[in-house]
Amino acid sequence: ENGLGGSTPGRRLLVVSNRLPVTINKNNDGQWDFKMSAGGLVSALAGVKNEFPFVWVGWSGSEVPDEDQDSLRTELRAQHECVPVFLSDFDAHLYYNGFCNDVLWPLFHYVPLPIVSSDGERKFDVKYWEAYSKANHRFAEAIMQVYEPGDLIWVQDYHLMLLPSLLRKRIRDVTIGFFLHTPFPSSEVYRILPMRNKVLQGVLAADLIGFHTYDYARHFLSVCTRILGLEASPKGVDYKDHFAHVGIFPIGIDPTAFIRALDLPSVQERASELQAKFAGKKVLLGVDRLDYIKGVPHKLMAFETLLARHPEWNERAVLVQIAVPSRTEVEEYKKLSSQTHELVGRINGKFGSVDYSPIVFINQSVNFHDLVALYSVADVCVVSSIRDGMNLVSYEYVMCQRERHGVLVLSEFAGSAQSLSGALRVNPWNIEELATALHDALSASPRERQLKQQKLYRYVTTHTAAFWAQSFVSELRELANLEREARDA
Ligand code: G6P
Repeated sequence: ENGLGGSTPGRRLLVVSNRLPVTINKNNDGQWDFKMSAGGLVSALAGVKNEFPFVWVGWSGSEVPDEDQDSLRTELRAQHECVPVFLSDFDAHLYYNGFCNDVLWPLFHYVPLPIVSSDGERKFDVKYWEAYSKANHRFAEAIMQVYEPGDLIWVQDYHLMLLPSLLRKRIRDVTIGFFLHTPFPSSEVYRILPMRNKVLQGVLAADLIGFHTYDYARHFLSVCTRILGLEASPKGVDYKDHFAHVGIFPIGIDPTAFIRALDLPSVQERASELQAKFAGKKVLLGVDRLDYIKGVPHKLMAFETLLARHPEWNERAVLVQIAVPSRTEVEEYKKLSSQTHELVGRINGKFGSVDYSPIVFINQSVNFHDLVALYSVADVCVVSSIRDGMNLVSYEYVMCQRERHGVLVLSEFAGSAQSLSGALRVNPWNIEELATALHDALSASPRERQLKQQKLYRYVTTHTAAFWAQSFVSELRELANLEREARDA
């Protein structure tokens, strides 16, 4: 017997997310190539896959000409159990760059952006909203092509908040789960959204709505009460003729992937090389998508303050910052990128020498094995997010520090700060405090580091991604069974 309980014949899981776990590209011969990606969700669902067959529905990532769509759909389904949703580049731009990443994303992370962008475009322009709605309709249509009675549908994240209601309209007694991977903001921020009612009503059609933390769930419930005037209890919300259950499911990582990588001779070799390269120096590590929610400038300025206030770290501490380019079509991300480059240049210019660059700035993604090697040699990992749904970098670092007992400096605004009590918690807006935390982390005694690490390690290895997925899916199935019993009674 496993975490999912006995299996019900005929139940399949339809996982729906904006991105598919495969990247689709046209090669030079005009054929479509598929590349599997090893993202967090993919590994989280690996365990569930043993219990349920599942089909993954997601956006194809770029425009596919009409005449290619049928064959692409057939091949993707046959090779990867994936179902593509096709959007024109024009619509995808307004939906993904526009409404998702220039309206919902900043708002959910408490960063209300100016109403007018530098090219004079309106932030809440109705065309972004229409594209969002259209994209959500496209997802609903693609799901209808593959849906079979008894299927459970699990919708992921802020890209698809209208989808539960669109599905409910099409299939009255379908069981729908919705999980939000970002924070859900306080009602005073959420109410800024002009389409606040429609977005909420979209999600409320789900049977189970999941969040990473207690605070996000609490904000959601109070928004339902304050904005829609609905009755809510900690268990969920009465909405129309059904009850939308609300639950807390903190996501994790797949520890075995890291344990396996750490054991590889090639990774150990890479780690030794890095150690030799940084000999005599302490390494602070930052690993972030280059997103304004990650507080990278805060981290850089705190490091600058550290070097100014504690000259003993000059030439003796290096900050390795990996900044993976992300959403590069969106104006705020472009601004952040140039601002970050400027800061790195300024600090390296001020404190560097011919032999020493205080900041090693890597503005590209790093392959998994190199990343694991870096995590394993870093004395300190710094997560300075100004808001973050969970932040799994903090978990990944902990997994790679079994022997070294490095210190995790963690923003109190990351979801993971609620669970990782062995971290040094900081407010990243307080640059002086963050600089002090960096100093304390660099100076921590071996005993102190070991105690902290033990606590962290225990949490990360038990609260895994697989545990997250299984908890959510088993609760969703429970609800489906209850509903069926009620219908049959
Ligand atoms: C966050 C979101 C995910 C998203 C990821 C990467 O973690 O919650 O839904 O996939 O960022 O962003 P991207 O825009 O590249 O998909």
